Parts: sequence; structure tokens; C-alpha cells
Amino acid sequence: MPTPTSASEPQPVDPALPEPTGRDQAFLRDIWYFAMPSADLAPGAMRPKTLLGEPIVFGRGDDGSVFGLRDICPHRGIPLSDGRFDRGEVECCYHGWRFAPDGRCTAIPSLTADQAMEIGRIRVRAYPTVDRHGGIWVYMPADPRSTAEPAVPPPSLPSVTDRAPGLVQRMTFPCHVDHAVIGLMDPAHGPFVHTSWWWRSRKSIHEKAKRFGPTELGFAMLRHQPSSNSAAYRLLGGVPTTEIRFQLPGLRVEDIEIGRHRVCGLTAVTPVDATTTEIHQMFFWTVPVLSLLKPVLQPFVRRFLAQDRDVVVRQQRGLRHGPALMLINDADVQAKWYFRLKKAYAAWRDDGTPFENPVRETTLRWRS
Ligand code: FES
Ligand SMILES: [Fe+2]
Repeated sequence: MPTPTSASEPQPVDPALPEPTGRDQAFLRDIWYFAMPSADLAPGAMRPKTLLGEPIVFGRGDDGSVFGLRDICPHRGIPLSDGRFDRGEVECCYHGWRFAPDGRCTAIPSLTADQAMEIGRIRVRAYPTVDRHGGIWVYMPADPRSTAEPAVPPPSLPSVTDRAPGLVQRMTFPCHVDHAVIGLMDPAHGPFVHTSWWWRSRKSIHEKAKRFGPTELGFAMLRHQPSSNSAAYRLLGGVPTTEIRFQLPGLRVEDIEIGRHRVCGLTAVTPVDATTTEIHQMFFWTVPVLSLLKPVLQPFVRRFLAQDRDVVVRQQRGLRHGPALMLINDADVQAKWYFRLKKAYAAWRDDGTPFENPVRETTLRWRS
């Protein structure tokens, strides 16, 4: 993507971003990505999915365990997902080679009894895959041939996410992951993009000051009472407090406490390829009344996310011309942090530079 630069003086200009071309297309590697909601993968099912430009077939055994394999048969390259998942193994549709969930070849039907071949040495790439917090998560290694343990554990989210999500919304944005991430975390677009009678209007713009601090792989808007112009919060009853965390590679976690109740919003931003990004928004709650309101809430969540997508669609018409972009203070500081975090993480993985979180505790002020 084009390089945003800083327009105002007090903070240093952000370092240049790599263009999203070449093998990595500026995707972060050696980190866990959200692949799909857990419920999308039933026991005994397979599901193909492209992540970071790589075709992966996800599957779930009858015992509930999940796996992810490169969706290309090592024999002659046909997608394994065109085959079938049978008795705990993937069978290719072309010549029937079979593969265990760990990628090992277990059968080549064309071999005669006297044709010795160490078929266990044939392997299809297996991606570390786990099922937790309502989603299937996959580790995308920098070295595709690596069988090393993941460099970091899968994300750990508030315990309310251990129950099934009450609401799931999925949407595809036609942009590079960086634009999706910084668009979703951007605090200044609300009054212009998300105008509606039930949320807010342009007239409601006012000055805000929020406290931020570093977290493990990101930063948080520290616990606070949401602004009174967010009418939707009133549906929850009681005075909620919210902490909003962002962490690499593209996770936003809104953790709301209302008395003894908990509501958690998880937004997972996953690159499909250099120009396509998938967003999943999931809500988990312990508030029983929200379950009753679900049919009412769903269209609002969808509309909200569609507003973000529609603005990105328009943005692409300008980005086609490769313009220089700006990140200003303070409204765009979270976006600056995102790029710095990404750079620090990539440097750690590339040459071992110890990962140091570039975010310091601070107050950001903006009008929105
Ligand atoms: S291409 Fe898969 S078994 Fe031949
Ligand atoms: Fe938005």
C-alpha cells in the first residue's frame, strides 16, 4: 500500500511501509490468524479457504479436533478439498492418495503389493491449527517448510469467549489488510461514515480524551465509561465500562463489563490476498436479554460493518493511483502504532531483533 506520512510536526514521520507486492505482500508471518468461526466447521467436514494468498483446507475430525493442510495435492497439484474427508483422512479426488491430518501420506492406491515405497515420507504441508474463543485459528509460518513450534501462542481472549458467540457477522473488504485494520480502528470516521438515527449524527461531534497503554502484542484504550452519545450501549442496562484492545495481526477486542455481566466484541481482520480482506465480528455475552434481542441486533451489526466496507470500496477508486497518504495526530496515532508494531514484530522474526512494544502510556485527544 502507499506510504502514509505524518502531516503535523510533534511526532516523527512514520517509517516507510513495504509495498504489498512480492511474496509476502506486507503480511505479518509467524503469527496466528483467525480463519473462520468454529461453527463453520462441523465434525467430519472440510472447508477450503485462502489465507495470505495460500490455499488451505481446514477439516474437523469426528472427535472435534481441527487441522489445516495446504490445499494442493503433492502428487499432481489438484486441490485436496475437491476430494473427500473419509475415516479421519483426506482422500485426493484424482488418484485417491490419502493424507492424515498431520499431512503424512497414508495410502497410494495404485501401488502393487511388491512395489516398496516409503509413502510416509510424502507430506503435504500442515499448518498449526486450534479451535478456541469461537474461532478456528491458524499459524502462518514465515518459512513454509518449517515444522518448528509456533513462535507465539494463539491469542488469549476474555473467558466469556469460551461460550458460543451470540452473534456472528462476516464481511469481505476489497482492500489490503492494512487499510481494513486502520479503517476499523480509526476514531475520526464515526460521525461521517456511521451516521444513523440509532447511533449518532454529525451534530454529536465532541472532543474526546482517552487513555491508552501498551499490551502484549498491541495496545489498549484503557477501561472507561463509553461516551454518552453511543445510544446503543443503553440497551444493555446499567453503567457499562469498556476496554478496547488491539493486537497483532488484526484483532480488536471490546471488553464490556456491566455489573457482574460481560459482553465481548471480537473483530478479526484476516488477509485473504493482497487485495481482499475478510472481517469477522463476533459478540459473546452473559446478559440473557441480549439473546432475546439477537434478531434485532443482527441487522444493525451488519449495517455498521457494511458502512465500513462501503467507504473502503470508494477509497479504492483513489488508491488505484498510488497517492501518498497521511497519518495525523492524534486521531491517526493508533494507525501509526499498528504500523510500528508490525514492523517491530517482523524485525523480531526476520533477524531476531528483540520485540519491543513501541507504544507508551499516553492520552490521545480528538474530536469525533
Ligand atoms: S493428484 Fe492427488 S492423488 Fe494424484
Ligand atoms: Fe467504522
